Parts: sequence; C-alpha cells; structure tokens
Amino acid sequence: MMKLLRTISESRRAAALSAVCLLTLQATTTRAQTAEPFRAELTVRADQPRGTIDRNIYGHFAEHLGRLIYEGLWVGENSPIPNTRGIRNDVLAALKQLRVPVLRWPGGCFADEYHWRDGIGPRGQRPRRPNASWGGVDTNAFGTHEFLELCEMLGADAYVNGNLGSGTPQEMMEWIEYMTSDSDSTLADLRRRNGREKPWKVPFFAVGNESWGCGGEMRPEHYADEYRRYATFIKDYSGNHVRKLAVGPHDDYYDWTEVLMSQAAKQMQGLSLHYYTLPTGDWGKKGSATEFGEKEWHATLARTLGIDEIIAKNSAIMDKYDPQKRVGLMVDEWGTWYDPAPGRDMGALYQQNSLRDAVVAGLNLNIFNNHSDRVKMANIAQMVNVLQAMILTDGPRMLLTPTYHVFEMYKVHQGATLIPIELAAPEYKLGEASVPALNASASRDASGALHLSVVNLDPNRAAQVSLKINGAAPARLTGRVLTAQAMNATNTFERPDAVKPAAFTDFKTQGGVTTLNLPPKSVVVLELR
Ligand code: AHR
Repeated sequence: MMKLLRTISESRRAAALSAVCLLTLQATTTRAQTAEPFRAELTVRADQPRGTIDRNIYGHFAEHLGRLIYEGLWVGENSPIPNTRGIRNDVLAALKQLRVPVLRWPGGCFADEYHWRDGIGPRGQRPRRPNASWGGVDTNAFGTHEFLELCEMLGADAYVNGNLGSGTPQEMMEWIEYMTSDSDSTLADLRRRNGREKPWKVPFFAVGNESWGCGGEMRPEHYADEYRRYATFIKDYSGNHVRKLAVGPHDDYYDWTEVLMSQAAKQMQGLSLHYYTLPTGDWGKKGSATEFGEKEWHATLARTLGIDEIIAKNSAIMDKYDPQKRVGLMVDEWGTWYDPAPGRDMGALYQQNSLRDAVVAGLNLNIFNNHSDRVKMANIAQMVNVLQAMILTDGPRMLLTPTYHVFEMYKVHQGATLIPIELAAPEYKLGEASVPALNASASRDASGALHLSVVNLDPNRAAQVSLKINGAAPARLTGRVLTAQAMNATNTFERPDAVKPAAFTDFKTQGGVTTLNLPPKSVVVLELR
C-alpha cells in the first residue's frame, strides 16, 4: 500500500430535532449512567467577538481511491441507481444538507499521477489508466467536467489539486485555461465542444500533494523552488481569481514549514497541513475501526487533540514570515485512519465509522474554529467510502455515518464570528494518560444567534456544566446531542439510524446560570437566542 511504501519517515506521522425550550423552564433529566457526573464551568465571551470562521473549514476531499469516486459519487448516466448526470441522487441529497463549502479533487497521491486531458471528451474514448497509487484501473469517466458539475450541484467551491510530481508547468497552466478562460483560445473552444460553454470558477488550486512523500520525495528547498516555478504559470483568466496553495508539512515536520514560508510565502495564498489520527500512532498497525475498548478510545482522542499543538506551532512559524496572516493554513487532509477490516481490500481504505469518529470530528472542528485566525480551510479525508467518510454505500444502499451527523450539526459555525470561550474542566484520565474531559467552541451567526459546540470525551461520566454568557442575554436555548450506549456504536446498512442526533433538553436555568447535563461520550450543539 502507498502509505507503507513511503520513504519519508512514517514514524513522524506519528426530532426534527431542535426542541425549543425556554431557558426559564426546567428540562427533564433522565440519565442512565450511574457514575457521578463531573463538574465544569464554561464561559462564552460574547463580549469579545473575534474574526470570521471561514466556511471552508467545513470542507471535503474526494480522491480517485477505492469506491469513492466510482460507486460512491459517480454511477454513470445509465445506472439503475437514480442519478443526475451520472452522480447518484441519494448521496447528492445527503451532501447538500451539509452545505459543503469546498471540495478538493482529484487527490491526494493520485493528483501527482493525474493528467487532466485523460478525463475530457467523449467518455467512451477516454483512456483507461492504472491507478498507481491505490490500485485498479481508472476509466476516467469522472474527469474535469464531471467534477466541476458536481461542485455546481453542491454549491461548493472547486479546489483542484494540480500535478507537480509527474506533470509539467505547461500542463498545469493549460488545465487552468481550459477550465476558466472565456476567450476564443483553442483550449477554451475545446471545452465548449466538450459541452461547457461558460467557463467555471476555480478559486483554489494546489501545486502538488505531499511532495515530501508520494508527490516526489522532495527536500523542502527543492519543492520551494519548484513551487515558485509552477505557481508562476497559474494565471487568472476571464475574471477567475485562483488562490494558489503550496504543499505544507505533515504533523510536526516544522522544518518544511520554515523553508516554505521563508522561501515562497510571497507566491502563495495557502499552505497545506496533513494530520491523520491513528489509535496506535503506528502506521504498521493502526488499530481497528470498530473493535476497541477504552484504552484505544482514550489514545485516539489524545492523538487527535495533538493537532492543536501542531497548528499552534505551524502558525507561530508562519507568523514570523506572514504576521498579517495573509497565507492560510489549509488542513486539507485530516481524520481517522484505521486498519482495513479483515477481508477488505487494503488499498481501498474503506473503514466503518463509530461514535468515536463523531467525537474525533467534533474535537477537530472545535480546534479549527478556535484557530480560525490562521486556519482558512480544512478538508476531511474523505467524502464517501474512504477513511473517515460522511457516507458509506453498498450498491444502491447508502448510510450516513456518525461523522456526517457532526458535520450537519456543526454547519451553523460556517462563516460565523468566532466567540472565545473559557473552560474549566477536569481531566479524563486512564492510567497515566490524561486529556481534558471537555472541549468546546462558539460562534455568533449573522442573525445574532450564538452556537456552542461541546464534546464530552469521558465515556463513563456525564458532565454537569455551569454555562455563563458574558455580553449577551439570550432568552431561549435549543440543542441537539449525538451519543450512543457503546463507544463503538455504528450505523450499518441493516440499522442505518442507530447513531443519530436527538433533541438536547437536559438543562436548567436558575439565578441566571444555566446548568447543562451532557451525557458521557457525546457531542452537543446548542443555539442561544
Ligand atoms: O487520504 C489518503 C492519502 O493520504 C492521500 O492520497 C495522501 O495525500 C495521504 O497520504
């Protein structure tokens, strides 16, 4: 598998649910847990609003990998599975509910082997190419037109990842012209002959992927020079404005960040960061998606929280060269990565998704919100049937994962104003290991509503949280909660709704202080108006 073949040190990678309840009302408390709840204090500083949470933090990633593009999204116009111009309707409808802001394509490692001319023109005449990164043969039925039409159907911005590893600057330059030029150039005419009169907008374009690894195993100095060269030929045509993204580090590869920022910051609008969460931290034996106990639960959450420090340290390096924060840190690959289930194709990266993944998603999104002065985009890996997916499919069947529900609950933060929080919570300890038991972020939307997302990491104890709001006096609170009896609860094709959000009503207000009772291992999103 590609991941294992890398020479870059792998060890470095180490009810209609909104029941409205007046704040003055006493809500019912029905908790099955017997362990004593822990107490915490959460203050929402509505009196200290910060900057905007870029909606692209809620972005997605779709690579030609496993059953993501073919079967997960694209079934073709002649498929018995109901579809719109080849894209399956069930998946499309579910994704629309997430308000997908931006979609990255075609990879990943695949991007550095992809030649865009293979994927245009009559589908029957497109070449079939081996997918050298992930196995199998790509029919190229899904190419530039299909991707950009999908973005239009979703209302998402297009983020195209260019091929630096095995492509030329000319190929990259011509791809952008083909997609975005309204002139009478030969390439713009070719696009018209292929069925698209008007040019598309392509606001984001990346120059290569993981160039320290599968994208060419380069040294940062070499990549910085290559980036500057290729980026020079990424032009704005016909009113399209491309923001150019450079390959950034993975995990704590801070030297890469230092070199890129010192040598190419002027030529970029974004620098990527890749951070995957493995329960064990060992790429050789990552851990199971579903067969785990509290030790693996705790370790997974501890590892995912590690991204907070990784972002902070990368941001500090970026601040040295870009104190105005003009260059965005784009976390364009993040999420859980487990061992494939027995009998599953290793290269397809299909994995189940449990309540643990929902908690991981809630933690990461809170962290991105809280770092939104520098983090301007994040793309969970990946959209359908691959890694920490929103949706799993099986022939004509589809299910929404627990992670999907977190994205749907958290969409209220998209484009909202970050509101700082102060949180005093105990640690959730297991043996010698310890993580904060609660994690949260807050925002205010254009209508003035406050949204608060809180994760209780402790699988055994409910949290009794005193909530204070400085600078606002909301009259009512509504909310939703995602939890389950078991840490490894999943949605299956037989029971697709086993894990889904419910109305959150377990709170009371007395003397101006609201007390929230958050169930163990839960993600809660509140709206205060
Ligand atoms: O998301 C799967 C792979 O992980 C991507 O192709 C690559 O960029 C990363 O290593």
